[in-house]
Amino acid sequence: MTAPITVVILAAGKGTRMYSDRPKVLHDLAGKPLLRHVLHSVAALGPARTIVVYGHGGAAVPDAFRDAPVAWVAQERQLGTGHALMQAMPQIDPEGTTLVLYGDVPLIAVRTLQALLDRARGDNVVLLTVELAEPAGYGRIVRTAGGAVSRIVEHKDASEAERAIREVNTGIMALPSRHLGRWLGALGNENVQGEYYLTDLIGMAVEEGVEVVACHPAHPREVLGVNNKVQLAELERQYQQQYAHRLMERGVTLMDPARIDVRGELICGKDVVIDVNCVFEGAVHLGDHVSVGAHCVLRNSAVAEGTRIEPFSVLDQAQAGPRGRIGPFSRIRPGTVLEAEVHVGNFVELKNSRVDRGSKINHLSYVGDATVGKHVNIGAGTITCNYDGANKHRTVIGDDAFIGSDTQLVAPVAVGEGATIGAGSTITQDAPPGRLTLSRSKQVTVEGWKRPSKKAK
Ligand code: UD1
Ligand code: CA
Repeated sequence: MTAPITVVILAAGKGTRMYSDRPKVLHDLAGKPLLRHVLHSVAALGPARTIVVYGHGGAAVPDAFRDAPVAWVAQERQLGTGHALMQAMPQIDPEGTTLVLYGDVPLIAVRTLQALLDRARGDNVVLLTVELAEPAGYGRIVRTAGGAVSRIVEHKDASEAERAIREVNTGIMALPSRHLGRWLGALGNENVQGEYYLTDLIGMAVEEGVEVVACHPAHPREVLGVNNKVQLAELERQYQQQYAHRLMERGVTLMDPARIDVRGELICGKDVVIDVNCVFEGAVHLGDHVSVGAHCVLRNSAVAEGTRIEPFSVLDQAQAGPRGRIGPFSRIRPGTVLEAEVHVGNFVELKNSRVDRGSKINHLSYVGDATVGKHVNIGAGTITCNYDGANKHRTVIGDDAFIGSDTQLVAPVAVGEGATIGAGSTITQDAPPGRLTLSRSKQVTVEGWKRPSKKAK
């Protein structure tokens, strides 16, 4: 049996430099809170237990993660990283290994953590370290002449010589759980910051003859932390760049990999082409041969094979069938289902409507709470008046109907199969199938009428 792994995520810090009322770990990266990213990676490790130490912002952090399978531990005052870990002690299994992570280091990769844990045997300490060209601010890894790790010195406490060291502590480490209580109990706060430093445990371990080894992340970006909005934006770019590369590696054509934002999960079929400045939120599926024009926003939507989305279109909780055409400038709102070969054109808004195979709504229309049959043609400027000020009502349009331009369909109302509605009509009663229905005041021409002319002064 392998020794249990306890993960402790430190997330109590204030995040002063974010200048925000929101706790730092609740700021979003790629549409998800920083802490969510860490929890996601941790889940892949399958630890026996995960503990999150929270503090600044109070219950806001646990409230945001009600569904997460973690134990929450409050750190009332932020007296340092060692003090934070001490708060988790009652929840830590004295057997096995404790893996310490930071809630504000979101890009840590599962394989890096796995490699670190592979080296932890329950009786040694494994540190994740990196060499930085500009190590200022970080704790430095002090090694003996023989190259063994001897301790960590915080930047503020370091001598000139120690500040020249470029190998830094990422903060991520695996420790033998059975020593933790004793080591943490022995921590003092006699240092420049007056804090209980978790990093002081390294010197203690070495003095007791516990082996300390260092390993490195697969990529340095994994250990970048977020302390301010500049770093948050930098990590967002790193994340997006990586996501774009993964999409391209799986065969997606991105017109510019630097101009796509995925805030969730984007799943693509074969020969998908995505033009610049598109945003994908939540779960989005694009089928084979789908193309998405520039400046589109797709949220929790699915687009079936062969459909073309033209520029500046927005799809939100919508399903588009195969071989359709949407946009430019279409807005498809929640609950809309388009069957195969549907065309939706410019300045058309659809909401909670079902449009059957081969129908066209090409210009300047609002279709809400409607059921539209097959091969229907909805002319420019058609509006389903679905809301009477209190309730929403449905409009039902039969197969092969033709709705003339500038028609208002006042719901609840039905247009029969094969019916034609004359342009400019206001339809308040059901229109029978197969016939022409219109409501239009008679056109008159006024005899003897003259245009007014300007009076002479
Ligand atoms: C810490 C390390 C430093 C390392 C650096 C990497 C210590 C003493 N120093 O420094 O060696 O190079 O991270 O980024 O550990 N936190 C709490 N409670 C506290 C204090 C901090 O939960 O009382 C949490 C923070 O929310 C944060 C993490 O611990 O997620 C790190 O704290 P921070 O104050 O940023 O540590 P650094 O001074 O950057
Ligand atoms: Ca920090």
